[in-house]
Amino acid sequence: MAKKSGYLHGYSKKEQQRLYKQARFLEKYVYNGVNLKKNKNLIEVGCGVGAQTEILLEHFPKLKITCVDASFEQLKQAEKHLKKQIKKNKVDLSLQNAMQMDFKNNTFDSSFLCWFLEHVPNPVKVLKEVYRVMKKGGVIYCTEVKNSSFFVDPYSPTILNYWFHFNDVQWLMGGDPFSGAKLGNWLKSAGFKKIETKVVSLFLDSRDKKTRAAFLNEWTALMLSGVPALLKEKRITHRLVKELKREITILKKTKNSVFYFAFVQARAVK
Ligand SMILES: C[S@@+](CC[C@H](N)C(=O)[O-])C[C@H]1O[C@@H](n2cnc3c(N)ncnc32)[C@H](O)[C@@H]1O
Repeated sequence: MAKKSGYLHGYSKKEQQRLYKQARFLEKYVYNGVNLKKNKNLIEVGCGVGAQTEILLEHFPKLKITCVDASFEQLKQAEKHLKKQIKKNKVDLSLQNAMQMDFKNNTFDSSFLCWFLEHVPNPVKVLKEVYRVMKKGGVIYCTEVKNSSFFVDPYSPTILNYWFHFNDVQWLMGGDPFSGAKLGNWLKSAGFKKIETKVVSLFLDSRDKKTRAAFLNEWTALMLSGVPALLKEKRITHRLVKELKREITILKKTKNSVFYFAFVQARAVK
């Protein structure tokens, strides 16, 4: 089937708020190992509503961040959220397509891309563009999903069925829900050196009920964010959504339920 372009999660207020919650929720996993202490001039590509920008500045207050996103709605929300940081000249927002940015060569000493490359039709083209605008010796961090890693117990056929359609529609929209596994290849093709990748596993069961419950809630919000697009594509029915919610409730109530998901974080140098 031919690929179309689009953004699976959409730009509703609810989805924009989900991005803030998601960024905070995953902060300790995403930022463990990110070191930008020596950097001053960072480009954040696919910044969305500025959820990571805010966290980046908390961890690395010396940074000045240029945020790029192709969506006016996302940047409008980012402008509200980052009002103080923009006033202090710590953040610039720039409405651009990451595949062809209007910055000069060798402008930034670092870059940060999070949950973004999975949504673009040509990730290597984007990475080549990021490479171009970075200074020699600059460092890039990319964090991406690997959706085939998702596992839950007890066996939940409707969740699995829904997850297949969620990923398939993202794929047909021109994205790549398995992008984490390809980061090493993509960074190499774009010209980056010293590429390091690490798989971050979220493996939760009855040993840590509180975190498991929190993850199941986050995951429910992520899965349900795709419902309007999947209904529009006629991939699912309202009946399936009802059954999906029933299975999720079972997972949440089962004493020994298991949640597993892995994502990949890469660091490389120009
Ligand atoms: C899932 S959001 C991630 C936002 C942010 N990095 C975060 O972690 O909260 C992906 C963002 O990529 C943006 N995007 C998609 N394609 C783009 C492109 N070609 N150029 C720039 N931004 C793009 C979307 O508008 C969206 O805001």
